[in-house]
Amino acid sequence: MSDATHVGSGKVRELFALGEDQLLLVASDRVSAYDVVLPQAIPDKGKVLTALTEHWLKMTEDICPNHMISVAAADLPDVDVPDKAGRSMLCHRAEPIAIEFVVRGYLSGSGWKEYKSNGMVCGHKLPGGLVESQKLPEPILTPATKAVTGHDENITEEQAAEVAGEDIYNTARSYALGVYEKCAADALERGIIIADTKFEFGIHEGKVILIDEVLTPDSSRFWPVDLYEPGKGQPSFDKQYVRDWLDSTGWDHEPPPPDLPQEVVQATRDRYVEAYERLTGRSFNEWLAEIGA
Ligand SMILES: Nc1ncnc2c1ncn2[C@@H]1O[C@H](COP(=O)(O)OP(=O)(O)OP(=O)(O)O)[C@@H](O)[C@H]1O
Ligand SMILES: [Mg+2]
Repeated sequence: MSDATHVGSGKVRELFALGEDQLLLVASDRVSAYDVVLPQAIPDKGKVLTALTEHWLKMTEDICPNHMISVAAADLPDVDVPDKAGRSMLCHRAEPIAIEFVVRGYLSGSGWKEYKSNGMVCGHKLPGGLVESQKLPEPILTPATKAVTGHDENITEEQAAEVAGEDIYNTARSYALGVYEKCAADALERGIIIADTKFEFGIHEGKVILIDEVLTPDSSRFWPVDLYEPGKGQPSFDKQYVRDWLDSTGWDHEPPPPDLPQEVVQATRDRYVEAYERLTGRSFNEWLAEIGA
């Protein structure tokens, strides 16, 4: 198999198409903080994102169909990417639905901002008196448009249903809530709160399937449960360390960001691996060996 063509570069992934139906997603080690890509890569970060996505997709395949074909090194096509094994997922190529399916179980980020101003989040009327980072009575779906440039914009569920089509929207929304609820309950038992997350869906052979990365540190807020204290912002499991270090330099969050010293790179890498190991109960090195990376 060597007919893979490079079809795109996202902020984090390189995309290769294999024929009409398959896509190879290769996650890089690029990391951003405060919306700025940092000059140093975090070794193994792309592999951790791919390993976690595989973990959740396997755990939820009874809830909804997904795009995964394989992460095994032996199944990967011939592409010109160094170190591709472990960071790559061979997938069914779908027609992406142009909506980000954000599920929130806790009040944080743009949801908290909107709630403070009007007591609502994306058209959901919430009880009064909630504080920052508080657990919501039940998880809510707060869709956003997938902006080609600039920041995504929160919209109401009615607006999202108009964009995606009512039936497709309702199917994807119930998949998103089902996947979130199952995985958040599992993570909580392992000491990690999944405060919120973003899913993407696409249409493949006429059916809605879950695509892209799933429940990774890049697409979710992970909070250690032993440090959870509603009423303020929470430390994030993986990126807090690098954010704290950046802040200790006095950097104003405008490009260019400072260079990360080797020990900060290494400590950040260790936290990504620890997130994988805590969430799955598995050794990261064992996973790499199992898939032949
Ligand atoms: N199975 C799939 N079929 C088609 N497209 C997919 C599939 N899985 C993921 N994608 C797309 O691949 C891209 C992944 O790349 P990456 O995560 O780097 O993008 P990004 O920087 O998040 O950009 P974007 O804003 O486009 O999501 C996303 O645009 C996603 O919609
Ligand atoms: Mg992405």
